[in-house]
Amino acid sequence: MIIVPGSGSRSLAFKIAKAAGFDIVDVEVRSFPDGEIYVKLKERVKGEEVALIQSMAREPNKLLVEFLLTVDALRSSGARRVIGVIPYFPYLRQDAIFEEGEALSAKVVSKVIGGSGIDEVITVDPHLHRIKDLSGYLGVKFEKLTAASLLANYFKGKVDPREVLVIAPDEEAEQWAKPFAEELGTDYEVLIKSRKTPSEVELKAEELSVKGEEIIIVDDMISTGTTMAEAVKALKLKGARRIFATCTHPLLIGDALYRIYRAGADEVVGTDTVPSPVSLISVAPLIADFLKNL
Ligand code: R5P
Repeated sequence: MIIVPGSGSRSLAFKIAKAAGFDIVDVEVRSFPDGEIYVKLKERVKGEEVALIQSMAREPNKLLVEFLLTVDALRSSGARRVIGVIPYFPYLRQDAIFEEGEALSAKVVSKVIGGSGIDEVITVDPHLHRIKDLSGYLGVKFEKLTAASLLANYFKGKVDPREVLVIAPDEEAEQWAKPFAEELGTDYEVLIKSRKTPSEVELKAEELSVKGEEIIIVDDMISTGTTMAEAVKALKLKGARRIFATCTHPLLIGDALYRIYRAGADEVVGTDTVPSPVSLISVAPLIADFLKNL
């Protein structure tokens, strides 16, 4: 298999290729003055099985178009099979029409990706809540990997599971907090969140007793940091001893990281599905293993 690094995942793609022992074919990506993107494969891929690695965080629209163009370049250059590895799959939070007149973004983006000429899509901890599987929208095989064990393993040497409580900051995060807590061998609780605006949330932790406990808050992503910062504040007020914040996708928009530390977090850590200062845990072994066993 050949690894093709998209510009949203260059270092991760390199680590995947190294872990799996695959070769890399680079892509030249340029932007025209009017914002259009140009891609060109730097080597031949005729007859090859290819995994294109492209997270689509922070600049989802640009990275999506680059992905579509690269799939086309791979197909027209004769690649035998093209697997789209999208470690951070964007637009999934709008997976329902909440108010009349809205677009169903998860469906639209999945259909575009599925129609690009790709044979299969692999992602990590996708934000799927109301819908569980994207294969209906994608029209191709869809695989979800999870970073829960990698994240839990990171904490195994840091905390004593007997003194730790895992917290899901909202109901949607229970699907990530539960396997994380199981892997760590501890309990978890779920907070009740209501979102006022994209950057304002209200969290309820009244019934929780955390005095003197070590807390690990687990979510799929940290975007503006509002959810994490509010959760940290609420748990701090309840008397938590140390608070760790962890997620698979550290998008960390603007001053998200500062806000979470300022709220009282002792450490913030995430994976490299999205490159960031806290992306200390690599999903490369997870993806490399999966690709090797395809
Ligand atoms: C929401 O449902 C997600 O699981 C995250 O809690 C949320 O997207 C994080 O966003 P922010 O960091 O902007 O609060």
